[in-house]
Amino acid sequence: MCGIVGYIGDRNVYDILIKGLHRLEYRGYDSAGVALETPEGKLNVYKAKGKVSNLEAFCKDKDLSASAGIAHTRWATHGEPSDHNAHPHYSQDGRLALVHNGTIENYKVLKDALMQHGCVFSTETDTEVLVQLIEYIKLRNGCTIIEAVREALNQVQGAYAIALLEKDHPEQIIAARKSSPLVIGIGDDEFFLASDATPFVEYTKEAVYVKDNEIAVLRQGEPLKLLSLEGDEEHAVDVTELQLSISQLEKGGYPHFMLKEIFEQPDTLRDCLRGRIVDGGRRIVLTGVLDNARKFLDAKRIVIVACGTSWHAGLLGKYLIQGMCKIPVEVEYASEFRYNNPVIGEGDIVIAISQSGETADTLAAIQIAREKGAFVYGISNVVGSSIPRETHSGTYIHVGPEIGVASTKAFTGQVLVLTMLALCVANLRGTITEEESNELGEWILKLPDIVKEVLGLNDSIKHLSAIYTYARNFLYLGRGYNYPTALEGALKLKEISYIHAEGYPAAEMKHGPIALIDAEMPSVIVAPVDHLYEKIVSNVQQVKARGGSIIAIVSKGDKVISKIADHVLEVPAVPECLTPIVTSIPMQLLSYYIAINKGKDVDMPRNLAKSVTVE
Ligand code: M6R
Repeated sequence: MCGIVGYIGDRNVYDILIKGLHRLEYRGYDSAGVALETPEGKLNVYKAKGKVSNLEAFCKDKDLSASAGIAHTRWATHGEPSDHNAHPHYSQDGRLALVHNGTIENYKVLKDALMQHGCVFSTETDTEVLVQLIEYIKLRNGCTIIEAVREALNQVQGAYAIALLEKDHPEQIIAARKSSPLVIGIGDDEFFLASDATPFVEYTKEAVYVKDNEIAVLRQGEPLKLLSLEGDEEHAVDVTELQLSISQLEKGGYPHFMLKEIFEQPDTLRDCLRGRIVDGGRRIVLTGVLDNARKFLDAKRIVIVACGTSWHAGLLGKYLIQGMCKIPVEVEYASEFRYNNPVIGEGDIVIAISQSGETADTLAAIQIAREKGAFVYGISNVVGSSIPRETHSGTYIHVGPEIGVASTKAFTGQVLVLTMLALCVANLRGTITEEESNELGEWILKLPDIVKEVLGLNDSIKHLSAIYTYARNFLYLGRGYNYPTALEGALKLKEISYIHAEGYPAAEMKHGPIALIDAEMPSVIVAPVDHLYEKIVSNVQQVKARGGSIIAIVSKGDKVISKIADHVLEVPAVPECLTPIVTSIPMQLLSYYIAINKGKDVDMPRNLAKSVTVE
């Protein structure tokens, strides 16, 4: 949450920062701000509540000249979204300006101590405490800014990625990180810094992922310097070639990233599969698994940890792995797992799933699992993010940047990777026959085309959405593999349309939620042909008998539910374990169109951020 950008060099600093903030707006959009340092060392700070466009409007008549600058887009934690709580924050003497992503947990203790030394605070943020602390140390010790930053960061507890400008020192930006992402772009006599590489991908492909407890010194005309937080030691600079292209960051003619990302799924699934299912479906090459075959052969159990949509994918992972590999699987919210004294150890495999690779709770869960001796496997999308670096092994879903806050293509990519993982492990353990494996492999290869066909429902779903735009509540029901899909459908609707929606296992409905059903409560029932089909037919009838309207997602040619439901969306029939990838698409479209009908900002829904790097 929160995005930071910085630039030092000969280009137009303000333009780079603003464009960068737009790219990072998915991380938060409660307020935005820039600090610009002129070549003469004058420091100008401008900030505005709301989206980056508000900041742009505010800056229209301002002095925007600069040779270095830092900027921020905020997801509020400490202090309400407002102009004055917006970053960058100044030190009391106005000599330092700082942007920060993360949370300073001991800010209260530090603030009280600084106030006793005469510091006056003008915001409620934890970030102002950090910038005041740096200034205080610098003045007290008469030391260099780097020494002051180092000492201050050694006093703070919590997570941070920071960038700092000092008045009269236009030649440098200082940055540092611990548990929040920070990447530096190296150009020709220029440096970029950002929470991810998207703000600078068109300028350079050379990136350096700053590690925890490193301080980066960006000086024009000098090589990048990475210093240790603990002492004077200088770290080696490890340059990575970015695999990102600018077209992946644009809407490509779609009105919203979310719609673009929904429609990209035939391609993203193909990218996710590439090189992993070979010989026409007969061989599964998941190197993360094959290189660690012994771990998967000996595994006593698997625990999956994740949050939000990734947790829903994890729940599907349980069905897939238990079903194919006969290994017991538990699925935990990472935020619960980390505080529940998990009984975990050698012989256990922990699979951590995260689109962003930066979710704080998932990262903490990984750390605990590692400390307790488990083998930790990551499933992430963002290459070079923290989770792939903290895990023993893993698989990227390779679906390209997901910018819409509501996860769509990442979900189907995660489920696809989990399906391949289950199949790969089942082959290793001999818990699936060669014939079954080959058949499933062939089906998996067909998924991109099948999903393309499902996207053909777009117009009918758009039309259908108009009928339900003003519903105040929704139920999403499914069984077996489509129970997690129902949960995911409900989450999509609530997060972008703000309609209350509950996902439920269809059979559980009669134990409570059925009391809610009346003509005002529509149900989306996910009921493709599978071994529970007959059972869910009864559930559909129970809803109908109570006057509830039903949108049913069924397999093509369905004869029974189609006659009971008010609206039917037919999807191609596929093997049961592949149905979630197919049935989730109509639900993504339905929530998209309902939110659009309600005039909501689907790419930047209120209160949310794409990457949740705080607790
Ligand atoms: O980046 P992650 O997959 O770790 O993110 C987890 C959740 O924050 C995320 O899935 C969230 O629930 C999405 N907004 C859902 O659309």
